[in-house]
Amino acid sequence: MLQHIKQVLTPAEVRYAQDLLVDAPWSDGRASAGTQAALVKNNTQLPHECEVARTLREFVLKALDRHPMFFAASLPKKLFTPRFNRYGQSVNAEPMFYGPHIDNAIRFAPDTGLRVRTDISATLFLSDPDSYEGGELVVHDSTGVQRIKLAAGDLVLYPSTSVHQVTPVTGGTRLACFFWIESMVRSDEKRSLLIDLDNTIQALRTKHGETAEAVALTGTYHNLLRQWADS
Ligand code: NI
Repeated sequence: MLQHIKQVLTPAEVRYAQDLLVDAPWSDGRASAGTQAALVKNNTQLPHECEVARTLREFVLKALDRHPMFFAASLPKKLFTPRFNRYGQSVNAEPMFYGPHIDNAIRFAPDTGLRVRTDISATLFLSDPDSYEGGELVVHDSTGVQRIKLAAGDLVLYPSTSVHQVTPVTGGTRLACFFWIESMVRSDEKRSLLIDLDNTIQALRTKHGETAEAVALTGTYHNLLRQWADS
């Protein structure tokens, strides 16, 4: 299930990230791609060890932690280090892009070597959508093709099992943060049921306040999570 989480970063936080990223030491993005993905990838990324990457990934992790929706939407068990990429135009004015690919199933954390199974892929948009041409994230999921270009500071989560691409950026610069989540609930289908149930319970509470039925459904939610979560 594809999920849009609004305002993970406030406008002021987005500006702070943009200011740090503008003069950052960008390098060829192919270094971190799998063999198939490297053939279709043309963008730039921040090296893992650079100061800006260190500062900003801590900043993003804190923002995710305090957002009321992130935990329920992803049920995270492990999170693979947030990274940063930039799509603009190459020196010869060629638009940068990332063609159709699927993310590697297993990632090894650069610091610890810890394995992370990629259940959910995440993109946090960092550029104002009006400031660049193209650069849509296109996700092929079970419901068809989704074209995503969100406000700066907004996050999209989508199943890592989906083929996806970033369309050529023909003008301006597209900055983003991306990462992967190993979820306590591996199945996208089960996660989707839990999210739907959670959202419905919240809506019931908003409409009718606390009721015995809302309490009972909350119990059902947690009992399902107990059945399905691998914590
Ligand atoms: Ni990808």
